[in-house]
Amino acid sequence: ASDPRITRIASSIRVIPDFPKPGILFQDITTLLLDIKAFRDTIDLFVERYKEKGISVVAGVEARGFIFGPPIALAIGAKFIPMRKPHKLPGPVISEEYSLEYGTDVMEMHVGAVEPGEKVLVIDDLIATGGTLCAAIKLLERVGAVVVECACVIELPELKGRDRLGDKPLFVLVSPA
Ligand code: PRP
Repeated sequence: ASDPRITRIASSIRVIPDFPKPGILFQDITTLLLDIKAFRDTIDLFVERYKEKGISVVAGVEARGFIFGPPIALAIGAKFIPMRKPHKLPGPVISEEYSLEYGTDVMEMHVGAVEPGEKVLVIDDLIATGGTLCAAIKLLERVGAVVVECACVIELPELKGRDRLGDKPLFVLVSPA
């Protein structure tokens, strides 16, 4: 990437071997958050891309989509919706089951948080297999929202999560080798 901001963001992400399980190289964005310039540049790069696109909703995926989503939402003048693990949201929800490496998980969203036809940006810290973003897209589309794009700080390209999103655009800042 020629944008020096991307280089700084990439080098601010700490990689931790064998977390949470042997063989996993964990991409730790908490060190990006400690670098004030890298954190600000991360938000700015997304805001530059999504301002004035008619996006009225930013949907953030638990847990780290809750860190990057809200500052983007405020800067582009959109509302924020949390996409949560099951049994966390207090109001009426719709749920979507999705597959993990072993077993399944469930994502939930509050009914009424988004109106049919609203343009939504889905944000998370990282795409691996793409299962999480797929579940978020399905939930939003079930209530008639229009998912314009998904955005992540990090993509693990070897896991081909992008393919799982079909023709839904995915924008990422860094792809570790
Ligand atoms: C990580 C990451 C994404 C998801 C991506 O979350 O933050 O949300 O995995 O994986 P996928 O593309 O294979 O679906 P994690 O499972 O660590 O949950 P947490 O953010 O709640 O800790």
